[in-house]
Amino acid sequence: MKEKIEQLIHEVEAFAASGAGELEQFRIKFLGKKGVLQELFADFKNVASDQKKETGKLLNDLKVAVQGRIDSLKEQLGSAEETVSSGLDLTRPVNYMEPGPRHPLSIVRNEIIAIFSRIGYSVMEDREIEDDWHNFTALNFPEEHPARDMQDTFFIEKDPDIALRTHTSSVQIRAMEKSKPPIRTIFPGRVFRNEAISARAHCIFHQVEGLAIDKDISFRDLKQTLLYFAKEMFGEKTQIRLRPSYFPFTEPSGEMDVSCNICGGKGCNICKYTGWVEILGCGMVDPAVLENCNIDSNVYTGFAFGMGIERITMLKYQIKDLRLFFENDLRFLKQFTNTY
Ligand code: DAH
Repeated sequence: MKEKIEQLIHEVEAFAASGAGELEQFRIKFLGKKGVLQELFADFKNVASDQKKETGKLLNDLKVAVQGRIDSLKEQLGSAEETVSSGLDLTRPVNYMEPGPRHPLSIVRNEIIAIFSRIGYSVMEDREIEDDWHNFTALNFPEEHPARDMQDTFFIEKDPDIALRTHTSSVQIRAMEKSKPPIRTIFPGRVFRNEAISARAHCIFHQVEGLAIDKDISFRDLKQTLLYFAKEMFGEKTQIRLRPSYFPFTEPSGEMDVSCNICGGKGCNICKYTGWVEILGCGMVDPAVLENCNIDSNVYTGFAFGMGIERITMLKYQIKDLRLFFENDLRFLKQFTNTY
């Protein structure tokens, strides 16, 4: 009998109730009229007299343990019930929320920032709603330039002087107005153009602009900077190719291709069987642009470049349709490992 009581004491001490009902059952089981304690007290008569003292003490311990357990569980459940009645159930387990992955465009933007930070570039952002001066005029766009056309640019209806910026080159002007050379800064941001949405074009996309202004900056510096960028972004074996081009704000201007990292230059449908993919526009900052920002073009020279983040991401991850970036389909977004 002693062993049985000892075992019951352990059982009582380990008991936990998740609700008032369960606790009541426990009370009935031990303290009820036909409960465990009643039964044991009835059996006590048959205990040998030399065992009575010890067994009696144990029986009493069990009774105290049962009552103690009931009291403390009541207290615990009571405070939980109070929270329920105040509308707050702090014991409820939280719903699992899967952490969202970083968007591939953000991953690549961050990687571009990291690459240029390593060679001393700072980062600056500015407004998406721009005036004509910063988006076009200061950048040397002639009055009749087609980019100013309503077909390309989203203007604000009330004021033809205000538009959604069509490129991040506007931030070049903001940066040169704000700070004196030397300048070595990149400008990531969203840009807007009135284009039909397709696999290769969207009315909202992302660019990173770069600007370096100092004494004695030459085309060599531009080329070496861009070669460094291409190798960091697409791998050590990557080659670059510069083709002459035209932008109003740079002279000379160029477009840069990188060797296709998908076919390794052999030719595939991504590079349209040329082995090369265009990734950015660049050039030496036109002296007229420097003068528009009160920078003496006899003392300072500089280069600029602008790249599309979508294009680079598509090339890096072999994504064939630009619209995937804007659909927010988790099955697509979850595929990108967030190293940046
Ligand atoms: N702003 C140009 C565009 O959106 C890209 C560009 C070209 C930026 C040449 C530059 C540059 O800074 O030098 O098409």
